[in-house]
Amino acid sequence: MPLDEVRVSVLDRAFLFGDAVYEAIRIYEGRLFLIDRHLARLRRSLNELGIVCDVDRLYARLLDTISASKAKSAMAYLQVTRGADSNRSHAFPPAEVRPNELIWIQEYTSADPYQARRHQGVAVITHADLRWARRDIKTVNLLGNCLAAEAAHQAGAYEAILYEADGRVTEGSHTSVFAVKQGKLLTTPGGTQILPGVTRGFVFDLARKYGIPFEERTFFKDDIPTVDELFLTGTTTEVLGIITVDGRPVGAGSVGPVTLTLADAYKKAVTSWLEEKASE
Ligand SMILES: Cc1ncc(COP(=O)(O)O)c(C=O)c1O
Repeated sequence: MPLDEVRVSVLDRAFLFGDAVYEAIRIYEGRLFLIDRHLARLRRSLNELGIVCDVDRLYARLLDTISASKAKSAMAYLQVTRGADSNRSHAFPPAEVRPNELIWIQEYTSADPYQARRHQGVAVITHADLRWARRDIKTVNLLGNCLAAEAAHQAGAYEAILYEADGRVTEGSHTSVFAVKQGKLLTTPGGTQILPGVTRGFVFDLARKYGIPFEERTFFKDDIPTVDELFLTGTTTEVLGIITVDGRPVGAGSVGPVTLTLADAYKKAVTSWLEEKASE
């Protein structure tokens, strides 16, 4: 149905408590990229919060919705809320309250909305990580992310890199962060302090394939001036080079060679996956 006709109760727990999980999946040529990884993460988010949802059925509906939309280059947004009870009560509602599900296909006007920025790179700021202690769950509780993203926007930057009270870098407001130091990729170790980014995991695979060493190792805000390259990864962002942090250049001040290699490798992986799918 048209998006502006969709109605949700004000009693829905996503509205009242941010009690919902979501996934954003990239669609290339009408096909869902890395879908198994996204569905696995969705299942995990649902399990961690005890929201009961038949993900196989949701996936079937997602495929139908994509066909109906005829979208080629797009983002699929899935959200599952704990549902709407008859009143506002913090504790979970009885089992007969069913989850609400949203499947939303957001079409892009181009094959790659980030095309220009991919070569130029982007500016980022640093911002305190104000979020809760279970950032590994992909919930719609995103106020800490929104405050940081707005600060970046106000500063004319693309993204905010978040850091803990002791200075350790976690991730971006809606992306994962990688540093390159002496040819090696460094990124925040997996755990409850970051979202297990699907693209982050895919970049590990690409690094293995292209012989680029990588390590899940904590790095600090104060380490940023010493790194050679910095880049962001995300489902829509793919691999995006950072050229300034808080107005100061990163490395040589342009998108570095390792970042360019991985950004190109990502594109090639999508192309060969599409070729494979087309011949099936
Ligand atoms: C906080 C956060 N970190 C990282 C990511 C990147 O994750 P993915 O690569 O799965 O899109 C996102 C994406 O929305 C995010 O919100």
